[in-house]
Amino acid sequence: MGSAVGERAWQPEVLRLNALCPYYTMFPVDFPLSVLPAARSDGWVLDPFCGRGTTLFAARLRGRPCAGIDVNPVAAALAKAKLVDIHAETVIGLCRRLLHCDAPRVEVPRDPFWGWCFHPDTLVEICVIRLALLNAPDTAASIALRALMLGILHGPLRPSRMYLSNQMPRTYATKPAAAIRYWERHELRPPRIGVLETVRRRARYSLAQLPRKVPGWVVQGDATEVLERCDQKFATVITSPPYFGMQTYLPDQWLRAWFLGGPPTPVYSAADQLPQGSQSQFVEALARVWRSTAAHCSPGATLVVRFGTLPSRSIDAEGLFRRSLSTADAGWQITSMRPAGSPPKGRRQADQFTVSTALTSEFDCTAVLSS
Ligand SMILES: C[S@@+](CC[C@H](N)C(=O)[O-])C[C@H]1O[C@@H](n2cnc3c(N)ncnc32)[C@H](O)[C@@H]1O
Repeated sequence: MGSAVGERAWQPEVLRLNALCPYYTMFPVDFPLSVLPAARSDGWVLDPFCGRGTTLFAARLRGRPCAGIDVNPVAAALAKAKLVDIHAETVIGLCRRLLHCDAPRVEVPRDPFWGWCFHPDTLVEICVIRLALLNAPDTAASIALRALMLGILHGPLRPSRMYLSNQMPRTYATKPAAAIRYWERHELRPPRIGVLETVRRRARYSLAQLPRKVPGWVVQGDATEVLERCDQKFATVITSPPYFGMQTYLPDQWLRAWFLGGPPTPVYSAADQLPQGSQSQFVEALARVWRSTAAHCSPGATLVVRFGTLPSRSIDAEGLFRRSLSTADAGWQITSMRPAGSPPKGRRQADQFTVSTALTSEFDCTAVLSS
């Protein structure tokens, strides 16, 4: 059986869509699922820092309409895919058409990194799909294909033919110089991997069974700015703001960001990410988001936040978070605060990556909007 949180258990196939592609500090899906049955049974669910869209996927499993916002294009592309209703064969058909259409000659990045990372034939196919998707309107098929491509773009060589790249973690993209050193030292050449075959395998796996479609939307942008332009009302907000000290959401995903139209080198700017310069800057920016969410919620709405800091920043995460809520002064009243220790080790957000959770402080807070 799959996840058995709450009163319902899901077949494992239904949960596969959520695992299309990993993302830094992603929730385990059980976290938003555990919140949703206790929250109102109807009404829209919002995640203003939605990352790969785990909250949206949980809302979909519970039949709730939902919305997500994230400033990182990789996150937004993955989150959008959590809402699609599409048959695997349609996505495979789109991939085949794009590979075989008379596309203009694609430009292929020339730096040595690219020759080490991908077999030349694989790289041309990736570039053809990339260019076509950059020019394609958002449809269920293009959204699903884009997210599938992000998921298979890089990863380990074993088991074979799962990923398009030379040896690389699937969780983050190694920076070019370090990657080349590694490949040279281990004499690893990129295998020739067919994009269509890999998309076919992954689409049939990940899209085998989807939860029932729910109304929903995802916007790439700054949470406060997007909320200012939006007229949706929300009953439940479940989110996890950027961890204080975590500035690498984009540079660590630079290869996936390139696939979405970014430059062929890592970008280190943290443009539009919540400012991390000082604790007070961070608190102010977070407070603005809590204020904007309150403006889009009715009295009695629930806000559930998983919050953490990186071990390298030995600060009081709970204190920082409490300050952000009190600075917002928007009516969010804390009803519970507990360490995010409930999932077994290995299931916490930071455990998904290389961060030592022994030193990482993560906790869950529930607040209710007063009248
Ligand atoms: C802890 S992660 C969320 C992970 C998510 N819970 C998941 O399951 O994937 C925090 C997210 O906040 C996003 N973020 C940072 N600053 C933002 C802003 N100003 N507006 C919207 N999203 C922002 C980051 O890009 C990152 O994806």
